[in-house]
Amino acid sequence: MARKIVITSGKGGVGKTTIACNLAVQLARRGRRVIVCDLDLGLNNVDVAFGIENTAIYDLNDAVGGKCRARQTLVKHPRYPTLYTVSSNRVRDIIVSAQAVRLLLDTLSPQFDFILLDCPAGIDEGFHRAVACAEEALLVTAPTVAAMRDADRVLSLLQSYKLQSVSLVVNLVRGELARKGAQLSAEEIASTLRLPVAAVIPEDDKFYLGGVFERSRAFKALADSLLAGKAERKGVFAAWRRP
Ligand SMILES: Nc1ncnc2c1ncn2[C@@H]1O[C@H](COP(=O)(O)OP(=O)(O)OP(=O)(O)O)[C@@H](O)[C@H]1O
Ligand SMILES: [Mg+2]
Repeated sequence: MARKIVITSGKGGVGKTTIACNLAVQLARRGRRVIVCDLDLGLNNVDVAFGIENTAIYDLNDAVGGKCRARQTLVKHPRYPTLYTVSSNRVRDIIVSAQAVRLLLDTLSPQFDFILLDCPAGIDEGFHRAVACAEEALLVTAPTVAAMRDADRVLSLLQSYKLQSVSLVVNLVRGELARKGAQLSAEEIASTLRLPVAAVIPEDDKFYLGGVFERSRAFKALADSLLAGKAERKGVFAAWRRP
């Protein structure tokens, strides 16, 4: 059965989709069978990040609406044979319940190692739909007070779900600013939120326009950390304990 991991943040634009897609590539390069499920219904862009726009014949809405079978929603990545997406291209009137998405993912789960759930920004219905389908969470934040405050709110909501683990990904880090004290350091964020850190990802021009970059050291480290089941030890970072 696949490990189902939601990538969430509260705040918009802090890198959830970038992280879901780049992590998926690293896991696929290690031979893992991975699905990235786009749960940002209506504002989806996993297909854009992967450069596979308009290739899905059926999407999540079709499966939930009974128009196709679960497997027919899978779109294979042209470059990575074990990497698939489930898109949510079309906005429809149908109500997509968490239960319906869970059922779809449970049907696909036995053939995969990881299902990464790209969560929408905010803490409304879309957030709850995505988290309700997950067993683990990666909480993404940027090194700003606003992003951290949103992450803190999300963390309190995550506590009402029976997640096996929640760990932090600090994105958009600029080492030179953190060293000067002009930006919150990943260590400060981690100790404030009391979360183990799974990855620290630098702000990098090559990510700015989106897409995936298989040589990224930060994403390689994140994939290794997930596979090892613990956060990278960096300074004060605690080990990521899985029950
Ligand atoms: N480490 C990074 N370095 C540079 N640019 C980045 C980095 N991470 C993300 N970006 C850029 O920031 C923007 C927002 O990223 P992304 O779409 O992944 O965020 P998101 O959290 O999924 O947004 P939304 O809440 O709208 O779904 C994109 O233009 C992306 O290319
Ligand atoms: Mg996104």
